[in-house]
Order: sequence, then C-alpha cells, then structure tokens
Amino acid sequence: MIQVAIIGFGGIAKTAHLPVYQALEKEGKVKLVAVCDVNPDRFTENMEINIGGGEEGLSEDVARYTDWREMVEKENFDMVDLCVPTFLHADLAVEMLERGYHVLSEKPMSLTYDDCLVMCRTADEVDRRLMVGQCLRFGNEYRYLKEVIEHRTFGKVLSGTFRRMSGPPVWGWDNWFMDESRSGGCVLDMHIHDVDMSRYLFGEPVAVSCVTQEVYGTRDIAHSRLFYDGFSMLIVGDWSQEGLPFTCDYRVAFEKATVDFANGKITVYPRGGEAYTPEWEANNFYEAEIKYFVDMLENGNENTANPPESAAESVRLIRALCASADAGGQTMPYDK
Ligand SMILES: NC(=O)c1ccc[n+]([C@@H]2O[C@H](COP(=O)([O-])OP(=O)(O)OC[C@H]3O[C@@H](n4cnc5c(N)ncnc54)[C@H](O)[C@@H]3O)[C@@H](O)[C@H]2O)c1
Repeated sequence: MIQVAIIGFGGIAKTAHLPVYQALEKEGKVKLVAVCDVNPDRFTENMEINIGGGEEGLSEDVARYTDWREMVEKENFDMVDLCVPTFLHADLAVEMLERGYHVLSEKPMSLTYDDCLVMCRTADEVDRRLMVGQCLRFGNEYRYLKEVIEHRTFGKVLSGTFRRMSGPPVWGWDNWFMDESRSGGCVLDMHIHDVDMSRYLFGEPVAVSCVTQEVYGTRDIAHSRLFYDGFSMLIVGDWSQEGLPFTCDYRVAFEKATVDFANGKITVYPRGGEAYTPEWEANNFYEAEIKYFVDMLENGNENTANPPESAAESVRLIRALCASADAGGQTMPYDK
C-alpha cells in the first residue's frame, strides 16, 4: 500500500485530491499519512474553487504539519503530492525527489522550462517517479477524442477549438494566482490545460501565435493558434471577468464529421447524417490521474500517458506563445 503525504492543502488538494485518496484508501490502495500547509486554517475550513467545493472531512489519523521539514522528519511515506502554488513546484519537487520520495506535482510543472528540465533530470538521477497533473489526459471526453484521431474514425482533422473559461481564481493563498510572477497568469495556469491537450492529440505545432489581454495584469485572456501540417487549432483561455461560471468545451472538425464536447456531453455530427451521442462515460479525471500514478509506483509501469518530459514541453510551448503575445500576436515558427 502506497503511503502518501500532501504538501499544500488548499483549493485543489481539498476539493479534488483528498476525495480521491479517501476513495483509494477504502480500496486498500493508499494510506494518506500526513498533510502540510503553512496556513493551519486549511486543516479545518471548507473551500470553494472554480471547479466546485469540498467538504472538510480529513480523518483524525492524518497528521497535520505547517512545516514540511518537520513532516519529513517525523513521518514515513512513499510519495508526496505537491499542491502548493506554482512558483514553489520546482524547488519542492527537487527537494522531495532528492530525499527519496516519488513526486506527483500539480500543473503547470513550473514557471520556466529550465526549471522543468531540472525536475526531470533530478527524477532520473535519483531514480524516483515524477508526474505532473495534466489531468485532462485522464478525462474520458479527451480520451474519446484521442481515440477517434488515432483510429482516423472520421478521416483527417480539419480544424479545432478548445476553450476554458472561468472567473479569476481569487481563492488562492496570498492571492498568488493574480500575480504573474508566481502563477504565470491565465496563459500558464489555465490555458496550459488545452495547450497540453493539443500537443497530446496532435504533437508539436510547426508555428504558433497568441494574443493576450490584460484585465488584472495576469495575461487574463489568451487566444492561441497552434499551426500543424495542414490544419490549426484555436485555443481560448479566459479568467478575465468575476462572476462568470467555469466552462470548458471543444469542437474538432474532421473530413467526415464534427465532434463537439459542451456542457459535459459529447455529440458527433456526421456530415450528411444524424447527430448522435457516442459511447463514452464521464469520469473523475483527478481520480484516474492519481490512480495511474499510484499504479505506476506499485507495478513499475512505464508512464506512457503523461511523462514529465512532455509536461515540460507544454511549459516551453506556453513560453513561445507568450513571446508571440509580446510581439503583438506575430506568428512564429516553433522549433520542435
Ligand atoms: N489540475 C487542476 O485542475 C488545477 C485546478 C486548480 C489549481 N491547480 C494547481 O494546483 C496548485 C495549487 O492551487 P490551489 O488552487 O490549490 O491554490 P491554493 O492557494 O488554494 O492552495 C495552495 C496551498 O499551499 C499552501 N502553501 C503555500 N506555501 C506553502 C509552503 N511553503 N508549504 C506548504 N504549504 C504551502 C497555501 O497555504 C495554500 O493552502 C497550483 O499549481 C495550481 O495551478 C490545478
């Protein structure tokens, strides 16, 4: 049974990760040993973030720490789940890997590509597993899309749009999300989900362009184009307006049909035929992601779905999009 510690017990840890560990604990797959957060209120308060809320419910036998150094001195565990703000990912991941723990870190991997490379190199050197929470890769709505692309079910890809929109993430510790130097802004924090997905589905683009808009000063709206051989993807990220509900969708046009995912439903619109709902089942992608990592630790499986080197490449691509935005949205060749 894999023993787990969480560092950073805020929005994503409480609403998405904790319920998964609780479920896996009932299956006898993991034991949540300890949680650490600099803010002890987080051990008792409920939280609400853009993707939903979480009831507290941390069981009594989980140790609580406000200093990770004390936690590693006193507790035994196999893996650490990093749910701290992004600017802390790289240093903490390297520190934990070097201390012999396997590391699952929330996305985005880090603020810079160079940091990401150090994380990958360290994991290799110390022979520990590292994975980044690019959670969409584990969502069945995206797995369906990957399958029809790989099997060429509807012929060639013609174009696509991926969107992710939300109110600004103002729940964060010390308002770190709204500080680009600590979060990377909307373009790195939220937009990366769909940019990573585009890479996962179609590979590296040959050219990119991006236009960003400032409302809070964190590249709050990003319109990106990823150009591939013969088609392009339009990717929209937007956290520019308080009060707007979280929404995400995609629409991909193929030679023989268009596949649309909106309001939690996939619909296939065949050219010249009746629209239909394909066979698929919605899943909890955080659960699938964490289970994948735990299974890797238990069985030594290769990480084919979400290797850290690929998460690093998504950060590199975001930085290329930022360079295009800084140049007024210029289309720039992208070096694979
Ligand atoms: N995969 C997703 O869908 C998704 C969604 C939201 C957030 N995230 C990512 O998860 C990470 C955390 O985001 P969040 O929404 O939980 O933010 P948050 O601010 O709600 O939580 C971060 C927690 O880390 C704690 N913390 C800060 N410094 C610490 C330290 N040195 N040691 C221990 N704890 C420390 C804070 O007190 C806070 O409780 C970010 O990288 C974010 O991008 C991912």
